[in-house]
Amino acid sequence: MTDVENALPVASRADLRRSIASTQDAYIASIPKVELHIHIEGIISADLKWKFSQRNNQTILNPRTGQPFASLAELRDSHDTLKPRAGNRMDNTEETLSFFEAYYGGFEVLKTKEDYYELAMEYYEHADEMNVRYAEIFFDPQGHTRVGTSWETMMQGFREATWDAEQILNVKSKWIMCFLRDESPESAMRHYEAALPYRDVIVGVGLDSNEVGRPAELFEEVFVRARKDGFRITAHCDVGTPYPLDHIRQVACSIAGTGADRIDHGLNAAGDAELMALIKEKGLGMTICPWSYIRHQPMDKVFERIRALFDAGIVISIASDDPAFMEDTWVWENLLVVKKYCGFTNLEIQKLAENAIKMSWAKEEVKSHLLELLYGIEPGT
Ligand code: HPA
Ligand code: ZN
Repeated sequence: MTDVENALPVASRADLRRSIASTQDAYIASIPKVELHIHIEGIISADLKWKFSQRNNQTILNPRTGQPFASLAELRDSHDTLKPRAGNRMDNTEETLSFFEAYYGGFEVLKTKEDYYELAMEYYEHADEMNVRYAEIFFDPQGHTRVGTSWETMMQGFREATWDAEQILNVKSKWIMCFLRDESPESAMRHYEAALPYRDVIVGVGLDSNEVGRPAELFEEVFVRARKDGFRITAHCDVGTPYPLDHIRQVACSIAGTGADRIDHGLNAAGDAELMALIKEKGLGMTICPWSYIRHQPMDKVFERIRALFDAGIVISIASDDPAFMEDTWVWENLLVVKKYCGFTNLEIQKLAENAIKMSWAKEEVKSHLLELLYGIEPGT
């Protein structure tokens, strides 16, 4: 059996989510949290898609049949039966949607500045409830412009939500624009240039979408330029199913001249002592999204690897990725699941929370305030 066949099936993941989410954990609940790996488009659930599309008088087409979804129930069903992130979205022999088909469907329902504002506020409100006090949020500008949305519409909505979240909810944040690695490097560069007027809210650049045959080095020119201009650099690598370790190596040591400032995912570095030593030596932070991995890899392997990275002294933080496509699991559920299956003590949970604060790109005064809050809470045993 392959790893994917050995992964937890969807019904069991839903059960696991139910039991995990209802766990009482006073320590995890109380600590200030930093979220460093969440895609804003990855919170667009079937219900949100439906809400925006109704408001904008749109239908939502099923990419498999070309026919509109007839009801919210039908749309929900298409989300619930997602095929775990198939590498290639063109595999039309399956009836169920792939992760990317459902994910990119969400971009089409966002039309107005209010939609973008509300989408971001939806995240911030949820973050506040989980005591997330700082977040760096990914967004995919190419996915929006290619369905006809302007930068102004998108960024004015995000920007106003950023201000309001800080003022009203005490959730601070910055944005990371991700280039779609299955689009061309030229398109990435055009989008990079268009993003420059929004530097007040954009702290870094990243790389996401379908990784098959698209290593990070293809985007070298735009990474070099972004670093020269003072942006922080990160990139997804080894997402979900294992890719060549070289994808991780490039992110760690060579993109933007000397390697990224952070690594998104890269879990399978845990199988390679030399790569782990290199990541540790460079002090590179890794954002790790457990629920994202258990969808297509066996649970025991996933948690063993997370534990191995942590025990090796690599700076990992726990994050959520795409909650709407991952059984509605946020940073809360992801912290609980690693606590249970990696056997982390509260002191180790404190270390994970500290890692997230330290590897963030927040201002120094924001970091020291969060660290003070964190250290002020007794972890117990
Ligand atoms: N994988 C790759 N690209 C993505 C993802 C993901 O989980 N979410 C948003 N873009
Ligand atoms: Zn991601």
